[in-house]
Amino acid sequence: MTASHAFSSLFDFTGRTVCVTGAASGIGQATARLFADLGATVFAADKDEGALAAFAAQRPGVLRPIVFDQGALESIEALDEAIGEVDILINNAGVLLYEPLSDLKWTDLTRVISVNLAGSIALSRLVGRKMSARKRGAIVHTGSQLAYNGAEFRSVYAATKAGISQFVKTAALEWGPLGVRVNCVAPGRTLTPLNQHLLQDPAHYAESLKRIPLGRFGQTEDMAHAFVFMASDAASYITGHTLVVDGGWILP
Ligand SMILES: NC(=O)c1ccc[n+]([C@@H]2O[C@H](COP(=O)([O-])OP(=O)(O)OC[C@H]3O[C@@H](n4cnc5c(N)ncnc54)[C@H](O)[C@@H]3O)[C@@H](O)[C@H]2O)c1
Repeated sequence: MTASHAFSSLFDFTGRTVCVTGAASGIGQATARLFADLGATVFAADKDEGALAAFAAQRPGVLRPIVFDQGALESIEALDEAIGEVDILINNAGVLLYEPLSDLKWTDLTRVISVNLAGSIALSRLVGRKMSARKRGAIVHTGSQLAYNGAEFRSVYAATKAGISQFVKTAALEWGPLGVRVNCVAPGRTLTPLNQHLLQDPAHYAESLKRIPLGRFGQTEDMAHAFVFMASDAASYITGHTLVVDGGWILP
């Protein structure tokens, strides 16, 4: 086998099973599609039943839709039960809260923490425990560049994403000896429905763009490439790491 063939075979996921949460839209959908293109069977999990069904219909049998709510423990447990033993978990579902701190409501605060932090950790705990027993597996969470710099009106969201970057370090410490890698991909501004406020406000859009050294917003495919790399055996010596994929935004 040539060196280039050996390297490209690290991205052949034939016979592997992957669960991607938040797979009905944006970054999760692009990542689920790429894993399917690379040979994996993909459990595509999301709260949005209609969008999920439309997506899964594109690749029947390969993309397997599962409706779940990451804000509810019983639903997370049902997802874990339904997927059985997977090789890879892309723990990506998340919600943005764009609200001035002075106006912050308890219900919004607890909802965002519940989905982005508690639910995400609960799912990794369940899936990672089974991976640990089998002595192999890779988990990649979705963080955010906002774990590294502040952004007005996103205090709670940023706190949950910083929490995820810290969580993967400790999970990696506990599960590394058991053969399970736990990492995070931290997207910068990526053009998805999550960023409606950015897309609808030309001034905010232009101001944001100016802050990106590479001169463009992220595409969902930029993120999918990073998730696949971190989950693949090409990253077999990487754990507890947050890979920032932001076009250089956080550098100054
Ligand atoms: N778009 C960005 O600029 C950006 C930047 C940094 C981080 N992120 C993170 O990337 C991840 C994906 O976001 P996106 O930009 O693709 O947004 P998106 O809104 O396009 O997709 C998010 C998906 O998560 C699903 N979801 C939301 N709450 C859920 C719940 N309780 N249970 C199950 N599914 C739920 C939604 O239905 C949706 O399909 C999120 O964790 C987000 O915080 C996005």
